[in-house]
Amino acid sequence: MLLNTIIISITDRENQVHELETPTDMGLSIMELCKSYELPVEGTCGGMALCASCHVYVLSEHDLHEPSDDELAMLDSAFFVKPNSRLGCQIKITEALDGLKLKLAPVST
Ligand code: FES
Repeated sequence: MLLNTIIISITDRENQVHELETPTDMGLSIMELCKSYELPVEGTCGGMALCASCHVYVLSEHDLHEPSDDELAMLDSAFFVKPNSRLGCQIKITEALDGLKLKLAPVST
């Protein structure tokens, strides 16, 4: 059986665009996808919405689920936050995200 896959496009901090093919039936998050392609996303807290190292900007018009209170609280204390900011670890990959375009937020050190 073929895996269902979609394409997600991620612009890194050097403005290189990466078209990442990803399965939709493995419960992966955007943070895990970035790590699996070795994009510079730390995922320090392991996806608990506690570190903002997976901060991304959503560039396409996809209808993402509303951020949880935990995600909003973390974004509240993160740097370089914009109206289209999300935490990559809180976005689960589903078929509805085919063609999603994201950009990695700058690292705050
Ligand atoms: Fe830590 Fe997403 S991996 S907030």
